[in-house]
Amino acid sequence: MEKIVRPENMQRINNLQLANAFIEEQVSLIREQVKDKKVLLALSGGVDSSVVAALLIKAIGKQLVCVHVNHGLMRKGESEQVIEVFGKELDANLIYVDATDRFLDLLQGVSAPEQKRKIIGAEFIKVFDEEASKLKGISFLAQGTIYPDILESDGVKAHHNVGGLPEDMQFSLVEPLALLFKDEVRVVGKALGLPANMVDRQPFPGPGLGVRCLGAITRDRLHALREADAILREEFDINGLAGKVWQYFIAVPDFKSVGVKNDKRYEGWPAIIRAVNTVDAMTATIEEIPYAVLHKITARITAEVEGINRVLLDLTPKPVGTIEWE
Ligand code: XMP
Repeated sequence: MEKIVRPENMQRINNLQLANAFIEEQVSLIREQVKDKKVLLALSGGVDSSVVAALLIKAIGKQLVCVHVNHGLMRKGESEQVIEVFGKELDANLIYVDATDRFLDLLQGVSAPEQKRKIIGAEFIKVFDEEASKLKGISFLAQGTIYPDILESDGVKAHHNVGGLPEDMQFSLVEPLALLFKDEVRVVGKALGLPANMVDRQPFPGPGLGVRCLGAITRDRLHALREADAILREEFDINGLAGKVWQYFIAVPDFKSVGVKNDKRYEGWPAIIRAVNTVDAMTATIEEIPYAVLHKITARITAEVEGINRVLLDLTPKPVGTIEWE
């Protein structure tokens, strides 16, 4: 296939006016390409797929069918937000599949990171394929491919494409963001009226919390991770760190230590805070979080999250540590 190349003189979309012009142009191109046919989109709720969805809804409305697969490894509130924004506010044709049990059953007892990734990736394709085969008359598949995906598709990050789609699907592609950089996608998303917390989201791996719930995933530890992560995000928001730090999250390892809660012995997992800054995710530095904020986060997580009895801070830059813990 011909490689897509961004024209050198293409203007950087960095304001509302340019975003609106881009949207207008794409809306007519999409209508021209799709005509009265139907388009299928795997809508994860991440920035790219959300912006593609909003753009296609504007262009072709109910001819777009969005499928949101909840693999049970989403962050707190994410699937709910997809349903709220796309299903309700934008009145999209949205199919919501709660496949939590399928994924967690398959992952039971599996501790090797690469095997976990493979299971999640393969099952995602299976669930999506099953949903697609129930639908009639789909001619196109929309994808949130952006320009860095095209630039990177030749190597280093290939393993990050977990959650990709079946290669044998017989659809023509609709990829309206293929020439855009991430910052431009966010500007376009805002111009389309998507909520700020959706378009300004930090990167989140396809296998989701699966890579942060270390070792063999159990439902109770996954729940603890999700709750602790939600507290971290909330406190970063309140304390003005959310817009400043590139990526921040909690990882929970699969071992316990002894602690004391309500005057009783309390065995629990540690919650590890990771907060890094980077330009391209190839190297990363550590964000210095004020101690007062760390104390507050620690107090809240240990008081509010069942199963966690310690909070640790990871001070390791990349290299030598990767950004994720897995
Ligand atoms: P590492 O851990 O390799 O991560 O330093 C670099 C960046 O990539 C993200 N990441 C992923 N993104 N699918 C993705 O879309 C994945 O499977 C995946 N794994 C890691 C990670 O969050 C970090 O931003």
